Amino acid sequence: MAGQETMTYTLRVFILAILHNPAVAKAAQAQLDSICGSHAPSFEDREQLPYIEALIKETMRWRPVAPIGVPHLASEDIEVQGFLVPKGTLFIDNIWSQSRDPALYPNPDQFDPARFLDATGCLASPIPDAHQLGFGRGRRICPGRDFAINGIFIAAASLLWAFDFEWAVDVTGNPVMCGTLEMEDHSVLATVRPFEMKVKPRREGLDEKLLELLRERDANLSV
Ligand code: HEM
Repeated sequence: MAGQETMTYTLRVFILAILHNPAVAKAAQAQLDSICGSHAPSFEDREQLPYIEALIKETMRWRPVAPIGVPHLASEDIEVQGFLVPKGTLFIDNIWSQSRDPALYPNPDQFDPARFLDATGCLASPIPDAHQLGFGRGRRICPGRDFAINGIFIAAASLLWAFDFEWAVDVTGNPVMCGTLEMEDHSVLATVRPFEMKVKPRREGLDEKLLELLRERDANLSV
């Protein structure tokens, strides 16, 4: 599973979430515009973009792409909180259920990045053992988690800075939507199914700049 699918699937969930929650996209874009203005977001802006951090945390909580983690097997008898766990026991880390614990996440089905922010809009103190929930736990916790979060941060910030996202429309002009629980399985991974959308540049000259980058990429690939 490692990095490629997990990150792609998380970004797919992120886009579905903002399509269903345009007010969240607007709030994120307002913060990006005020901090980054006309330059594309960079890691140097990160500390001043708590809403984007919260948006990523909420994406990973709302639809964790590894909802049952990776199963583990006890290689010997062990004791956990006073219980004997015999050798051969299969452990399933139910990340899906933990990430919708209403005691930690009120209205867990609602997509709400603000649950990770305090009253001043800064990141709230971490809920114990919960913010990194999607990456598993203990000695086998995902070693790619910092790489993943950094990559998702810069991708999500850049996409929202550069584009508005809307549902695609059919020939009669009706939106072609994908429901928030239209999921598909990929072994231990799960994500929302592929869906169509419209992407509109928010920056002057961006279409031309993107075409230029694509031409450069194609030229490099053909060398
Ligand atoms: C959103 C992105 C990602 C998610 C949600 C994710 C999630 C997970 C989860 C739940 C596990 C199992 C942890 C456990 O056994 O308790 C895992 C293991 C692992 N992940 Fe990730 N991961 C992501 C990205 C990455 C990336 C980018 C890399 C590498 C660059 C990576 C490399 C690995 C490896 C090597 C393991 C196996 C660790 C072991 O068994 O000791 N992951 N990941």
